[in-house]
Parts: sequence; structure tokens; C-alpha cells
Amino acid sequence: LPIVVLISGRGSNLQAILDQSQTGQLPVEIRAVISNNSQAQGLERAHRAGIETQVLDHRHYPSREAFDEALMKIIDGYTPKLVVLAGFMRILTSKFVRHYQGHLINIHPSLLPNFPGLDTHHRVLLAGMREHGASVHFVTDKVDGGPIILQARISVYPEDTAETLAARVLQEEHRIYPKAIRAFAEEKIRLEGEQIIWIKPL
Ligand code: GRF
Repeated sequence: LPIVVLISGRGSNLQAILDQSQTGQLPVEIRAVISNNSQAQGLERAHRAGIETQVLDHRHYPSREAFDEALMKIIDGYTPKLVVLAGFMRILTSKFVRHYQGHLINIHPSLLPNFPGLDTHHRVLLAGMREHGASVHFVTDKVDGGPIILQARISVYPEDTAETLAARVLQEEHRIYPKAIRAFAEEKIRLEGEQIIWIKPL
């Protein structure tokens, strides 16, 4: 499956995808890694794996619409079947989201629909939650609101801090993101309207 991965930072989820694709556990061909931030550590990970990279700095565009238009052009040049958001810290226009509808997925560090948005680990602690986790979802017009493909749960312990939670959630992210991508690549899931159709069990 040809894919393009969008990042803004560390790129540890990108690394999990790279690792599994290199060992043949994940049937994807990463055609490019695109970042809006030239300093993203994930760009080095892509270089090391011999994957093409592109930097598109949003600050060089007059509007969100103009940035997203340029981004769409670059992505479409690689003709991916799936666009993977892996810590891409930009809200996308509805034009962009609609263009890739059903072919655009994201990972979010909470048990959606709880805790959309930023700073989830702090907010989970403040709310006194006893469970937390991560979600992979199709991206639709609602930010962090698209249909959920897979989730992983962790327990929250009294001694937890935002950092310890982030670390445990991240481990789960690295497990479920490749798994969800594999399900899509193997045509076990697809989006129809606002609903996920499971064609085969995982
Ligand atoms: C992850 O926690 C992901 O869920 C969120 O941003 C973080 C990205 O981490 N969307 P990394 O860049 O993949 O290491």
C-alpha cells in the first residue's frame, strides 16, 4: 500500500511504522515523509531509512487554505492510497479532509471521544480518570472526532504524572498504529460515510 506520512516533531510513531515495514510485518511503501517543521526529529528517522522527505513550512503561507492547497499538491504527487498523520500538529481545512476522506487517519493520545485536543495527559490526571489510552481514527471534519478504528487502554495509577502517562500511552500508540494501518492495507476496514465498515475481523 503506498502511503505518505505527515509529521511535525519527534516521529516515534513514524519510527514504529518504518520498523514494521522494514521487517515485512506491515505491507506499506512509505513514498514520502512530509513535515511542516524543518527541525522535526522524524525527518532524520526518514533519512536514515532512505525515505524521501519534504518540508513545507506553514509560516510561509498567507492562510491555512493556501498551506493546505500546497500540501495537497505535494501529497498527490506521490499518489498514496493512505495519508497517515503521525504527530502532525496542524488543524486541517475541511477541503483537505474531504479530499482524502476515507484515506486519512490520525492517532490521538486519549480514549476518544474523551479528551480531544492538546495536553491530554494533564487533563486526564486533573479529571481523576482511572483509565486512559490512545485512539486511531479516520479524520473527518470534526477535530479528533472521526470514526475510531482501534483503541488501547491503560490504567492510571495514583503515582502517575503526565510524563509517566505519556510514556505508557506512547508504547500503546506504537503498537496500535501499525496494526490499524495493516488492517486498512489488507482491506479489512473502510470508511463509508461516517461509519467504519469491518470487512473482516482483525
Ligand atoms: C503522539 O502522542 C500522538 O498521539 C500525537 O502526537 C504525538 C506524536 O509523537 N498526535 P511522535 O512524533 O510520533 O513521537
